[in-house]
Amino acid sequence: MLQTNVFLLPDLIPNSDILTGSCCVVIDVLRATTTIVTAMGNRASSIIPVATVEQARLSAQQTGGMLGGERDCVKLKGFDFGNSPAEYTRERVENQEITLTTTNGTRALLSSVEADQVLVAAFANYSAVSREIANHPKVNIICAGTNGEITLEDSLLAGALAAGRTDSILNDQALLAVDLWQPCTQADNLEQAIYDKLLTSRGGKNLQVVGMVSDIRLCAQLDTHSILPTFSRPTHTIQL
Ligand code: MLT
Repeated sequence: MLQTNVFLLPDLIPNSDILTGSCCVVIDVLRATTTIVTAMGNRASSIIPVATVEQARLSAQQTGGMLGGERDCVKLKGFDFGNSPAEYTRERVENQEITLTTTNGTRALLSSVEADQVLVAAFANYSAVSREIANHPKVNIICAGTNGEITLEDSLLAGALAAGRTDSILNDQALLAVDLWQPCTQADNLEQAIYDKLLTSRGGKNLQVVGMVSDIRLCAQLDTHSILPTFSRPTHTIQL
């Protein structure tokens, strides 16, 4: 029987054994994983996720690549990019290696390294990820959350992905996430329904406070990139 676990925060992963032999799907809809999918879709050569600002500066020095990231949703001093998907255009990122540090998203990615396969998911590549995990025996969906709190936006996408695996055994967090997602599937305009939900979420409110509501609209877009950004443990990079 297939197994699908959702962990609504990285801290809710009971132990690293559960990741062994699994496919992990990492989600930070607002905005880190949407930004990664956008950058890779616009042909960045790779992304190096790191936890701290100091590690990011060091990594960019060593690789000679570009630097992206945020703290409190705001671009860091001396960085080439913040964490808005709108910044990661084809003109700016094509063939570039980018080191990225974000408050919660890159940390969630790094918490999944014990898995056999680590996929980066956003609504922007929802169908590609959904197809990829459809028949995998063991899928763990890890939500980044915000500063240790569960967030609606990550749970919503987790539910959308888990809903495609209802023939598998779902843990209770997956059942909760599917229940959250179900009403969206009845909406006449699915993207609008996702956008409306994101507006009310914790991450959505944080972005509204710093005047970045247009990013919420971008992060609600479905299937803008049919790609599978994958984190490789040996190279410590995200590539296609
Ligand atoms: C994070 O990693 O916490 C987020 O992506 C924050 C943001 O919206 O920049």
